[in-house]
Amino acid sequence: MSIASREVHLIARPTGMPREEEFAIVEQVVPDAADWEIQVKNVYLSVDPAMRPRLSVGQPLNEPLAGYAIGRVEQSRHPSFKEGDLVQNWSSFREYFVSSGSDVSKLDVDPALPASVYLHALGGSGFVAYGGLLEIGKLQDGEQVFVSTAAGSVGSVAVQIAKMKGCYVIGSTGSDEKCRWLKDVLGIDAVINYKTETIRTALKEKAPNGIDVYFDNVGGDHLNAALPRMNLLGRIPVCGMISAYNTPGSISAPVTTLSNIIYKRVTLRGFVGTDFMHLREQFAADMTAWLKDGRVKYRETFYDGIENAPKALIGMLNGANTGKMLVRLSG
Ligand SMILES: NC(=O)c1ccc[n+]([C@@H]2O[C@H](COP(=O)([O-])OP(=O)(O)OC[C@H]3O[C@@H](n4cnc5c(N)ncnc54)[C@H](OP(=O)(O)O)[C@@H]3O)[C@@H](O)[C@H]2O)c1
Repeated sequence: MSIASREVHLIARPTGMPREEEFAIVEQVVPDAADWEIQVKNVYLSVDPAMRPRLSVGQPLNEPLAGYAIGRVEQSRHPSFKEGDLVQNWSSFREYFVSSGSDVSKLDVDPALPASVYLHALGGSGFVAYGGLLEIGKLQDGEQVFVSTAAGSVGSVAVQIAKMKGCYVIGSTGSDEKCRWLKDVLGIDAVINYKTETIRTALKEKAPNGIDVYFDNVGGDHLNAALPRMNLLGRIPVCGMISAYNTPGSISAPVTTLSNIIYKRVTLRGFVGTDFMHLREQFAADMTAWLKDGRVKYRETFYDGIENAPKALIGMLNGANTGKMLVRLSG
């Protein structure tokens, strides 16, 4: 049956932190699936920092907000899909959509795991933590590791991989509650609440043996503070620069300590998930095993209903999530 479906539109470009009035919830009618089509109902929407720079450049106004989702096939007139199949998709922030099947991929969920983990630990976040630390960071057993946004979706996986390799792990995050989760549940060695401590001073105390690998999710002040603490031949895999995303052009706070790259022969290298496609199968096997035996733990922060998607995005940018921020749609 054709069905009423709500979607999130960007209606005005934010400057600085986005505001709810820059988004609108718009209702559309989604038709039945025709021959060679499926009708999909989204179940989880993935709320990602990369959405913020697109609000300034790239995301068209008055169109559904681009984003990843997991949905369930409601109707199938396509031989490759049956009703009830779960599909990963880049369908945007909307409740229902019709697809030819070319822009979705079937999701085989391990029966011991919830489908939502395929949007974080077993999805893009886990994958960049894995590839970024092991391939770009060339992480060795027992090294000194610093991870920023350590209680977030990428960071919480990165710190646990580093702990599995017997490393001394320092994590920074923005609340005492998140610091406690990192220390007491994920078992990292030292935490920095960057909102109540000066990162540079805290790193002197909490990284007494320096830093071999700084997994950077923040840029700006965190990168500036980490560089003077880097050990000889240290590596800085640069995953993200969330401290800059609310500024036009994603311009970060000044990094004035770059000369340490020379003194310490540091390698600083950015990456994106598609750089690691050759690791895809190994990652899926490792992460599935780690999640199932509890070596990798996760948390999810849910906002319910598509009408709360703008709140979830703004909340994530403000640190309202522990672990992965998701919008959960009913049914
Ligand atoms: N290269 C890639 O392919 C790729 C793929 C995925 C993600 N990333 C990047 O990885 C980073 C983390 O992404 P995620 O999905 O795991 O998000 P996340 O960490 O789950 O959520 C974002 C977190 O960033 C922190 N934050 C916000 N503003 C900050 C600031 N000014 N300084 C320090 N921390 C701030 C907040 O936590 P606090 O409470 O700790 O402040 C917030 O919860 C982002 O930079 C993202 O762009 C890159």
